[in-house]
Amino acid sequence: MAVIALCSASGSPGVTTTAVGLALSWTRPSVLVEADPTGGSPILAGYLRAQVSPPDAMTELSIAQQQGRLRDEIPQTVLPLPDSKVSLLPGVRSHVQGSSLIGLWDELLAALKGLDSTGQDAIVDLGRLGLAGAATPVLYGADLTLVVCRSDVVSLSGARSWLATLRAEFEEFGAGTSLGLLLVGPGQPYSAKEVSSVLGVPVVATIAWDPKTAPVFRDGERVRKFESSTLVRSLRAAQESMTDVVKANAAALNDMRGETR
Ligand SMILES: Nc1ncnc2c1ncn2[C@@H]1O[C@H](COP(=O)(O)OP(=O)(O)OP(=O)(O)O)[C@@H](O)[C@H]1O
Ligand SMILES: [Mg+2]
Repeated sequence: MAVIALCSASGSPGVTTTAVGLALSWTRPSVLVEADPTGGSPILAGYLRAQVSPPDAMTELSIAQQQGRLRDEIPQTVLPLPDSKVSLLPGVRSHVQGSSLIGLWDELLAALKGLDSTGQDAIVDLGRLGLAGAATPVLYGADLTLVVCRSDVVSLSGARSWLATLRAEFEEFGAGTSLGLLLVGPGQPYSAKEVSSVLGVPVVATIAWDPKTAPVFRDGERVRKFESSTLVRSLRAAQESMTDVVKANAAALNDMRGETR
């Protein structure tokens, strides 16, 4: 289907938790990409409970890119997450590494988009907006870019200026419908409708506030019956909403191409 990128404007609203949860609940096989320039591989440290020594995956990919074999290298570099259809592409070990990868992201994005033909989607954790070493080509070039935020006043206030800037930029590229919000904890206190209207960008999906289950994805905790939790049910519904938007955007693009022919 697509490359879905998640990022945040401020705070720690749950980008990594949601990215891991989405990948694990996704109906198709997926590649989960750690592109947070903060480094430190939160998924290896958290979901995988620091049981796997962090590979230098991004350096391997950079070398492969320089040698013109990036696409072939991706399957060699990813780590399968146990009991799942998810392949993890671990991120930079250190924030210092991030700036040396700037030239990688354009081509890596194209390679991730190419995964669609193999029946896979990519879910990318971009981390916080505006950091040095950010995967900017993925932010602007993903099929769907969702800014993750919570619904309290502090989160909305932190997101407001970023959303205004991004909305203007996406609209300038004619990609306004590829930008949306992913709301963690709707109704805490504001609803998706209220958040959309304050930030001027649609809430594409909502993720239930579920502090009992979130540590399963964030920290690799074991929780009984988590499959039937509100969090997992909301992650499944989120996939449907995201798929609808990506399909509608692709159809609109096809129509436009048809008209210009
Ligand atoms: N749906 C949720 N319900 C309840 N708590 C959540 C939910 N999602 C995330 N959390 C909690 O929020 C905290 C931050 O989560 P996470 O690390 O995923 O955020 P982040 O946006 O990736 O942060 P950072 O910017 O530091 O990378 C964690 O304690 C996590 O358990
Ligand atoms: Mg994170």
